[in-house]
Amino acid sequence: MTTITPVETDASDVEHGEYEEVTVPVLVIGAGAAGARTAIALAEQGIDSLVVGKRDFGDAHTVWAAGGINAALGSLDPDDDWAIHAADTIDEGHYLNDPTAVETVTRAMPDRIRELDEWGTEFARTPDGKIDQRYFGAQSFRRTCFVGDRTGEAILDTLVERAQSLEIPYRENVMVTKLLSDGERAYGAVASDMDDGHEILFRASHVVLAAGGFSALWSRHSSRDDENTGDGPALALDAGASLLDVEFVQFHPTGMVADPEWDDDWNGRLVTEAVRGEGGRLYNAEGERFMERYSPDQMELDARDVVARAIQTEVDAGRGTADGGVYLDISHRDRSFIRERLPNMYERFQSLGVDLAEEPVEVAPTAHYTMGGVDIDFATGETAVDRLYAVGETTAGVHGANRLGGNSLAETVALGAIVGDHVATTYEPREVDPLPEHVRAIAEREFDRLAALAAADGDEDPDALIAELRALLWEHAGIRRDGPSLADGRTAVAALRERARHIGLAGDRSDRPFEYAVDLGFMLTLADAVLGAAARRTESRGAHYRTDYPDVDPDWRRNVLVTLGDGDEVRLSTRTVGAPSERVQRALDEGYELDYHHLE
Ligand code: FUM
Repeated sequence: MTTITPVETDASDVEHGEYEEVTVPVLVIGAGAAGARTAIALAEQGIDSLVVGKRDFGDAHTVWAAGGINAALGSLDPDDDWAIHAADTIDEGHYLNDPTAVETVTRAMPDRIRELDEWGTEFARTPDGKIDQRYFGAQSFRRTCFVGDRTGEAILDTLVERAQSLEIPYRENVMVTKLLSDGERAYGAVASDMDDGHEILFRASHVVLAAGGFSALWSRHSSRDDENTGDGPALALDAGASLLDVEFVQFHPTGMVADPEWDDDWNGRLVTEAVRGEGGRLYNAEGERFMERYSPDQMELDARDVVARAIQTEVDAGRGTADGGVYLDISHRDRSFIRERLPNMYERFQSLGVDLAEEPVEVAPTAHYTMGGVDIDFATGETAVDRLYAVGETTAGVHGANRLGGNSLAETVALGAIVGDHVATTYEPREVDPLPEHVRAIAEREFDRLAALAAADGDEDPDALIAELRALLWEHAGIRRDGPSLADGRTAVAALRERARHIGLAGDRSDRPFEYAVDLGFMLTLADAVLGAAARRTESRGAHYRTDYPDVDPDWRRNVLVTLGDGDEVRLSTRTVGAPSERVQRALDEGYELDYHHLE
């Protein structure tokens, strides 16, 4: 049976040293928009928190969210409202979304945007001074607010500035390796300082996980290599929480295909959907605008899963480029328009020798976002473990089987505010309890494990094992899947786990290989859960496409839950999905849909 314990090495003759102990009312793990917005809500209610992140403050994965953030403001399309936003989200999520989660986020968004605007985010404006909104895929109206094509970066800058003005403390380069939980309640976390390798025990009354998703488990991915490695969901699962919908992985249609002369790191990086939202067109290697065949009404702005599969079908049919991509072209727009609306894209490609105003770029699907994650109560953000909360891409529920572009940034700020407010009201009597002995023993065992990991002298390289794992998931749990291949993938993950017992590290915990060895544990956990859940779902729906079950099965309008059994084995079960409210159901029944031809 496959178990999901973290990477274990022989700990028998290794001792850990002294550790730093930090006590804080609320520990927020992750410093992107979700973590920052949660900490701001806490601070506004007078509750101290500490935000810890693996990178420098202001340099979280949020900065890579480019094209925009959704809110039914109706700046250009006054008929839009939050219920239609909710209906679009559920329609695109193929009815697997948690309807409460969707309503919570879509109702909150107009206020969250106005708040960001007040705090200083410089959203693009219409000539009459309203917040401008652009088209994004599969949305009935122009609903995506934007700051050129650097929306995530601009929002995170605003949140960081706000957090600094509220004097919210932050610790950079801290890697959390385990939550302190006895399965019933969370008490804090164990971490390693990535600057000098010393160990830290965080004691907290409440813990909020805002540590991102797991799209970096696939070899082509749009995040940085060492982000989105599954830390949040894996930590939560290990602590006793459940995961949901992990088989749903969004492959963004337009990841870069790096020219051999460019740095290989460009492979898979995002070419924002805003390029298509501003009129960009897709062509195959034969010069055919192939979306005509797949989606004549919504064309390039159909849902991401539809466009990604269309590209893959073209490539597999031999109509792609030699490097397995297609062309994205916006050169029919004026140079000044491209520079104004897509400044980052324009400059990035200019620096690589490609002039977007004159020529197309080569693109292919790339793993971009994981709809699945920690199962939470959307009224509060709480997991099944008392005082353990989750927010942002770490969670599941809002997006169902596929996510609308622009809804991820929306979720971070909408839910961050709710979680922060809720934790603030439940932090009573406003002191941190002493750490029970049985929980300190859990921390001691984790320190032992980390010491053994650092001292491991086997011949396996964690970075190389991660590369193998990524290739394995791309092959077995990619855009198209089938039962036998998923089963083979799971067997291969078990073999990699065994090899991970024999890694060798130089002994320095501030070295990247130590970080990779910890990441590898999280990634193996998620890989097994994804393959298991994908095998369990015997249908195709949204981003989960099974060639052996190519149709939607109405009986499968259920979520797959992942929990841990007593022996730490992955357990899968299913749960029915709730019904939308009457108002959202009415909007669904109206059948609103984007008409791409407005753009031409
Ligand atoms: O293509 C993009 O700009 C991505 C946005 C998103 O995933 O929300």
